Amino acid sequence: MTTQSASELDFDRYDHIRPILWTGDTLELLDQRKLPFVVEHVACTGSDEVAQAIHDLTVRGAPAIGIAAAWGAVLGARDIAADDGAAALAKLEPALQRLGAARPTAVNLAWALARMRRALAAAGSDWREVLAREAQAIADEDLAANRHMGALGAALIDAGSGVLTHCNTGSLATAGFGTALGVIRAGMAQGRIARVFAGETRPWLQGARLTVWELQQDGIDATLIADSAASHLMKSGLVQWVIVGADRICANGDTANKIGTYQLAIAARYHGVKFMVVAPSSTVDMDTADGARIEIEQRDPGELFGVGGTRTVAEGIQAWNPVFDVTPGGLIDAIVTERGVVEHPDATSMRVLFG
Ligand code: MRU
Repeated sequence: MTTQSASELDFDRYDHIRPILWTGDTLELLDQRKLPFVVEHVACTGSDEVAQAIHDLTVRGAPAIGIAAAWGAVLGARDIAADDGAAALAKLEPALQRLGAARPTAVNLAWALARMRRALAAAGSDWREVLAREAQAIADEDLAANRHMGALGAALIDAGSGVLTHCNTGSLATAGFGTALGVIRAGMAQGRIARVFAGETRPWLQGARLTVWELQQDGIDATLIADSAASHLMKSGLVQWVIVGADRICANGDTANKIGTYQLAIAARYHGVKFMVVAPSSTVDMDTADGARIEIEQRDPGELFGVGGTRTVAEGIQAWNPVFDVTPGGLIDAIVTERGVVEHPDATSMRVLFG
């Protein structure tokens, strides 16, 4: 089968959803807490509203929260008077800190804010325009990276393959097209992928509420499984690749992603199923040597006590709710980024692409 380049793929056919809309005045976020039954946007007019929306998962997914934070910085700048970028940065810094503290694990958030700080520090009297241009560039580059990664990742997949994905890594989690779901979109468009399975992704149900809905909007058939059905599915021979996104990829290839990813990687290795991580270079954190140094976000244990607002657990029960885990680089067959593919990642192979 020939490899289609990113420019040859019919992107629009399989990609209709956009989670973040900048109107020039407000930031409209597709409210992911309410999907799939309510499709509603939340309008943010200030940086603290954006920080709250990131914390509450109104907007979620590593690249999407970076993009939202960048627009949050633009909104925060509205309250500031300054003659040049350096003076504006000093005044904006508290708002940037609050945006950066909204969620700890996805490095894209810190990366986007660092980029906004650099742009602002170098700007002159036109610093407001510079800031808005930088936020738009972060969004545009993410979409382009996703499309390119789609082509690179799909090229690794043999025709007729089945794939299993986890969480939501699609247009909803990015500027568009998605990371792991971008590879699945490209693989479907090229006829390489014959079957798509998505895990529910307890407790927040990103797979059940978001991924299968997003794929349905784009006419891609996907089969939902309980997270606990994954090993059984792999044993059946119906999937050849597990394809996931990432929230932070360390210098040695260790990868933080949605809780449950690590056990999928272990099961995949046991069953001879390949394991692919798809993420833009904004998710790569060469300053963090290995996964032991990543802060894992803990969320409200209450997320485990019910489904859809109905309590399913007896009162007085304790719960532990880490929402990310770390997959060792040694369990990953390929990390696909827009800069290229790192096969069998380790500190040496990561350095080749990311210095
Ligand atoms: O808690 P979430 O929903 O923000 O977690 C999202 C994930 O773990 C995704 O897999 C990751 O951010 C990659 S999204 C392209």
